[in-house]
Amino acid sequence: MKKIGVLTSGGDAPGMNAAIRAVVRKAIYHNMEIFGIKNGFQGLIEGNIKKMELGSVGDIIQRGGTLLRSARSAEFKTDAGQQKGIDQLKKHGIEGLIIIGGDGSFRGAQKLTEKGFPCIGVPATIDNDIAGTDFTIGFDTALNTIIEAIDKIRDTATSHERTYIIEVMGRDAGDLALWAGLSGGAESILIPEKQEDFEDIVDRLKRGHERGKKHSIIVVAEGVGSGFDYGERIQEATDLETRVTVLGYIQRGGSPTASDRVLASRLGAKAVDLILAGEAGRMVGIQQNSLVDQKILDVLSKEHQTNIDMYNLSKELSI
Ligand code: F6P
Repeated sequence: MKKIGVLTSGGDAPGMNAAIRAVVRKAIYHNMEIFGIKNGFQGLIEGNIKKMELGSVGDIIQRGGTLLRSARSAEFKTDAGQQKGIDQLKKHGIEGLIIIGGDGSFRGAQKLTEKGFPCIGVPATIDNDIAGTDFTIGFDTALNTIIEAIDKIRDTATSHERTYIIEVMGRDAGDLALWAGLSGGAESILIPEKQEDFEDIVDRLKRGHERGKKHSIIVVAEGVGSGFDYGERIQEATDLETRVTVLGYIQRGGSPTASDRVLASRLGAKAVDLILAGEAGRMVGIQQNSLVDQKILDVLSKEHQTNIDMYNLSKELSI
């Protein structure tokens, strides 16, 4: 394989740039030509394709967002859209494609592979909701952004003796909320993977208040519902002054942590190795700090497992 392409798709994640850099540099290291496709699958359909050089990815390892931009494309979900994408790749002589993104992006990668165009997926999403990899690129940075926010909110929560509900992203997954809640010392953590008894949350808050606890932090994953709804219900049930913060898109931005940069560099480079070895329809991942790869089809048919031991621990530590 002499010419390959790279694109980012779906919600952006800090560390995508470090992954693009690794793909571009590793491809050039192996004497391949590398093409960047802008605006995800939509840009692919439109032929927004440009050759990249070593310098194209200089000074980006520390930047959030994605140099290649990202988009969600309805047209690419159709057979005609996918065929247009393949035609554009062939026009440029590109023989393989590395797709950096989440499960929606991998569905696109699988479709192209089934149509005879080899693709390799690199998991990048703040949600950490992809099966077959312990971590996705961007999760660690988003987690640290949340922790910084929780620490700040804790200051004002203490000053005013309030209960704070903090709603975090994660789509249908609870990893961001769980890790943030455990590392932020939250009283309760609400995640979609584990039904929490509302009475239990209320009892915990009341118990804390009775023994002199002046403030409380509750982390709510967006996948369980609105932080504002929980805020109202909790204030009503406890009679404690309650405030709600929805952290929102701040969680998707910022300079990637060292951990995300390392992960992105390792996964990006591994994706090039796979494509060079003639592999197709596979996703690279990390398990117990070792690089792994598996069929995208298998990844899509499974669910990422949230660490329920960690959830139980958080309850033990916030009695
Ligand atoms: O998948 C990343 C994510 O930020 C989710 O946590 C969130 O639910 C979703 O994307 C928001 O999507 P959009 O960028 O389309 O608003």
